[in-house]
Amino acid sequence: MTGRAPDDAWTARLRLRRWRSDDRTPFAAMNADPEVMRHIATGPLDRAVSDAMLERIEDEWTRRGHGLWALERRSGGMLLGFCGLAVPALGIPARGPGPAVEIGWRLRRDAWGHGYATEAARATLDVAWRIGLAEVVCLVHPGNERSLAVAERLGMRVTGTVKQRLRRGPTWEILVLRLRRPGEAASPPTGGPRLP
Ligand SMILES: CC(C)(COP(=O)(O)OP(=O)(O)OC[C@H]1O[C@@H](n2cnc3c(N)ncnc32)[C@H](O)[C@@H]1OP(=O)(O)O)[C@@H](O)C(=O)NCCC(=O)NCCS
Repeated sequence: MTGRAPDDAWTARLRLRRWRSDDRTPFAAMNADPEVMRHIATGPLDRAVSDAMLERIEDEWTRRGHGLWALERRSGGMLLGFCGLAVPALGIPARGPGPAVEIGWRLRRDAWGHGYATEAARATLDVAWRIGLAEVVCLVHPGNERSLAVAERLGMRVTGTVKQRLRRGPTWEILVLRLRRPGEAASPPTGGPRLP
């Protein structure tokens, strides 16, 4: 059993916060951008699917006590994107009790190249260890160099791959990266499909 993540977290430049109804429009604009969604299995999202995703994010906060935060500069202004903790739909083997928890990030295109994703991800990891997670995973398409660079800056390492079947088009092979809580002893994964 893990603890509840705070509704707000702060870094030197950023605020991670729970979602507001006025986030829906900038969230949908980010999710409709083909460049942002290039390595996401769904591809660009239309408004209804983007709104439904926000509802699932809030539902996860309610059910699990953690989720993806909205990301903005400390001084406020436009939504930059999201970062936080979510349980992936793909069954990923967990090391420790409960399901594997993924650290995820997505920024609107003009917020790339400022170090915001790595800064927000470090704050997310601090929370992950504080609420008692033993490990976080990250699922990244091998062509997503920017996302891999963020994960590697955090110290995450590739431990295997998992197949992701798309509704339309081919099956993707996704990299599974992991990071254990500092000081956490290695233990074999439990549950979910075997990694190759
Ligand atoms: C993945 C993603 C969040 C990475 O964003 P990013 O801006 O490249 O990553 P960071 O926030 O860590 O920024 C790093 C860059 O900021 C630069 N930077 C500028 N100012 C900086 C500062 N003050 N501190 C740190 N880095 C800084 C770094 O030099 C680095 O530049 P580089 O890209 O030229 O190497 C972004 O590409 C994205 O949203 N992609 C689409 C969605 C997606 O694929 N999500 C992941 C699915 S697995």
